[in-house]
Amino acid sequence: MVSNMCLAELDKQNPLKKKILNKDLVVFKTNSNKIAVLEDRCCHRNVQLSLGYVNGENLVCAYHGWQYGAEGKCACIPSLPIDQPIPKQQNKRLSCSD
Ligand code: FES
Repeated sequence: MVSNMCLAELDKQNPLKKKILNKDLVVFKTNSNKIAVLEDRCCHRNVQLSLGYVNGENLVCAYHGWQYGAEGKCACIPSLPIDQPIPKQQNKRLSCSD
């Protein structure tokens, strides 16, 4: 699904915005070289995740800093206390497939 040209454009800080089959997607590479393709929208306020940046294994939303792992699950909500789990409604997987 992701072409070699697209992969050559990837670096470890900046996600790429791609439109494939009329779907807005974000492609990013983690520190451990995992390539991830997710819907290009944050679960919080639908901001494009492609405006964010990669931090280690996560993609960080540019607006409020929510972080998503390569599997598309929310990994961190900075405004939550450390001992509080991520609420289920915010823990939906951002899938790139229907
Ligand atoms: S819109 Fe992404 S963290 Fe708020």
